[in-house]
Formats: sequence, structure tokens, C-alpha cells
Amino acid sequence: MSGHGEAVPMRSSAAGPLKGEARVPGDKSISHRALILGAMAVGETRITGLLEGGDVLDTGRAMSALGATLEHHGPGAWSVHGVGVGGFREPEGVIDCGNSGTGVRLLMGAVATHDMRVTFTGDASLSGRPMGRVTDPLSGFGTRAEGREGGRLPMTVIGAAEPVPVRYVTPVPSAQVKSAILLAGLNAPGETVVIEREPTRDHTERMLAGFGASIRTEHGEEGHVITLTGRPELRPQDIAVPRDPSSAAFPVCAALIVPGSDVLVPGIGLNPTRNGLFETLREMGADLSYENPREEGGEPVADLRARYSPDMKGIDVPPSRAASMIDEYPILSVVAANAAGRTEMRGVKELRVKESDRIDAMARGLRACGVAVEEGEDWWAIEGCGAGGVAGGASCETRLDHRIAMSFLCLGMAARAPVGIDDAGPIATSFPIFQELMTGLGARFDKMTEGATA
Ligand code: S3P
Repeated sequence: MSGHGEAVPMRSSAAGPLKGEARVPGDKSISHRALILGAMAVGETRITGLLEGGDVLDTGRAMSALGATLEHHGPGAWSVHGVGVGGFREPEGVIDCGNSGTGVRLLMGAVATHDMRVTFTGDASLSGRPMGRVTDPLSGFGTRAEGREGGRLPMTVIGAAEPVPVRYVTPVPSAQVKSAILLAGLNAPGETVVIEREPTRDHTERMLAGFGASIRTEHGEEGHVITLTGRPELRPQDIAVPRDPSSAAFPVCAALIVPGSDVLVPGIGLNPTRNGLFETLREMGADLSYENPREEGGEPVADLRARYSPDMKGIDVPPSRAASMIDEYPILSVVAANAAGRTEMRGVKELRVKESDRIDAMARGLRACGVAVEEGEDWWAIEGCGAGGVAGGASCETRLDHRIAMSFLCLGMAARAPVGIDDAGPIATSFPIFQELMTGLGARFDKMTEGATA
């Protein structure tokens, strides 16, 4: 079952060549943050290019429930009339974050230093994911949380009436954890400090600075030390959301493995905390170039051009790169299956607690399609079959995970026999136009009746 309705089984068959321009939607991480910070500023924040996927729309509804006013002007164009730092009101009902770990964790942070109770829930995937990584540091502000065993949703956050700022060293590399603490720190007096050993995506820090908060990052022996001064008056902004590199990954990688392809993916955010996949692909020998590099809305942006690359080779992807491509390992494994030799990905334990256990989900489907995969708790390795060498011919479980669904559909585009998935529904959480965009380039997807095999 998809999170928001009946399961939509789908099959992907040998396609191509893929040609044309792939205008992928707005960045999911930046979209969540634009809505939340817009709601915490005083006045009207105008947003263009907002991702209108399920995850972000759920965050938008949460902002309304907390007292902000949202207006929809047209595709991707929204206004948020914010209530100011400390101005949220207790919502009447439960906040449903659907499938979104980013949504729920950032929101828990944003409400943690308000004197009120907020109950959060989510779909089956989100309800299985750990929230303790966020509620533990939030307890330092004086916030309490009551949830199911193991720190799972549904969970009620009881905000601190008289918050004190925290200094916290993140035990896992997580931008969600870092951001939750910073958002909580906005309504605490004094300086809130987050220290991360490995850098994670820094959209929250960039955007907070844009809204006028006093925030600085220093690089010391401890790692990255981020210091935020609490209780600023946030000034509303005009935000142009760049297109999402994590969504661009799908047309880019499909073009690399489908014979004869040449695809341009314009206006992609290339923030260095997000571009690990593209670096990895180039090391593998991908024909991938950055055209027209520029800056948009405080983020570096370029047009990506990907061409069929039959001579890619497997490589070792180091743990130091994991945070900058954490959402891209599933689609990288599809490219690795079409490369020659072994690709080993280490330091990726976090993949086990995403929308699904992504190592397990990909390993099972890839094996069913004739690809050899080895795995340990925090690593996995793919034995590449070479260009066009993947057998395919299996139906794969997607486990309410949009990126697993899209990855297997891309696998089918270059396999010898079609690849099926049990549910394409979750794709709408991050990339609602995936199907039309990919078929527009030359992909062949068919909806199947439930129970049919690939
Ligand atoms: C995100 C951070 C990442 C990523 C998620 C989006 C964000 O999670 O997997 O899709 O917007 O902060 P972690 O920071 O927990 O690794």
C-alpha cells in the first residue's frame, strides 16, 4: 500500500535513447526550510520553485496549524505570512507529517521552545523511524517528549516554557538533527551551539543567515562548530528554491546507463554538502558536465549534462563522502550494477534508518535482477555487470520509499528484461512529475494490475 492510497504497481522496460531537457522540481530540503523559517519571520516571505510534493505540503499544513497563513499563487509560488520567533500557537489537532522524516524532525525542533503540546504522527514508514536522535538533544532546552517505545511516532512534544540554550555534539551525521536544534535555539535566549564532526547539508544555516539571524560556523579540532544567537527578529525573504540535486540524480543516472542518451538537467543546486553523487559518477568515468555555473538564492547552481557512458568502472566510495550523497546511494547502486567491476560504499549505516532500510531494499531487488550484492551493517558492495549486463525480470518491493521506487524504475530502463515495482505511489512525496518527466525523455513505464509480475 502506498502511504496515501492504493498501491500503484508499475513496470519499466528497456528504453531510450533518453533525450531532452529534464526540469526536475524544487529542492525538498530547501522547500521545508523555506516554509518553516517563513512562518517564524514577521511578515510575508515569498517563495518560488517550491516542491509541491507530499512531504513539503504536509509541512505547509503544519505551518498553518501552528498559526502561519499560507497563500498559493500558482505552480511552486507561495507566500507565508509568519508569526515571528516564539509566535506559534498550540495546534487544535494532531500534526501528520506523512512520510517525511525531515518534516517531523525539523518541526519538533521548531515547536520545542514554545510553551505548548504538539502531537506528531506519520505513515507506517515514518512511524518506524527513530525520533530519539532529535528528542534527546531537545531535552537540553527543557523540552519533553512522550512517544511509543523506541522513541517512535505518534509522539507528543511538550515544549519548554523557559528554554535554556544547548551545546550539543551530534553523535550521527544528520542535518535533520542539527537543524532541529538550531530551530529550537531560535526561541531560546543566548547562544545555541551544535558541533558536527562531519559536515552535513547546510541549508538551514544559509537560510537563517538570509533571514537575518546571527549564525556562524567555525572549523576547529572538534569539527564544525555552529553558533546561533537566540531570539532574533527574522526578516521575511524572497526565496527562489533551486532544483533538487537528489531528484536530478534519477534522469542523470538513467541517461548514463541507457544507450544513446543525452540529457540536460538545468538549474540544479550544487551545494558542496549535496554533490557527492556527481563527484562519484565522474570518478567512475561518467560523461557528466556542469554547464553555466552560477549562484541563485544563496546556493551554487549549474546545468548538468549527462550522456550515455558505457565504460564506467566500479570504485570505492569513501565514508567521508556519505553525508553529501546520503539519499543517492540507491540510484548509485543502479549505476554501479551497470558499470564494470566492484563498487564498494562504506560508512553508510544511516541508510538503514531512512524511509526504509535502503541497503536491504536495494540488495534484495538487485539480487532478484541478477546482480551480486554483498553487505554488512555499515557497508555494501555491488559487483557490476557492465553496460547493459543487468538481467532484470523481477518485481521489487519499494517499502513506502520513493527513492527505492525510482531507482528500480531506472534499473528497468537499462536491463535486458523489464523490472517491476509493487508501488509507485510514494514517488509523489518528493518527485510528483517523475513519471511524465521520464517518459517525456523516452522511458517506458506501464501501470500493472496488482499481483502481476515483471
Ligand atoms: C535531510 C537530511 C538527510 C536526508 C533527508 C533530507 C534534510 O537526513 O536523508 O532526505 O533536509 O535535512 P539526515 O540529515 O538525517 O541524514
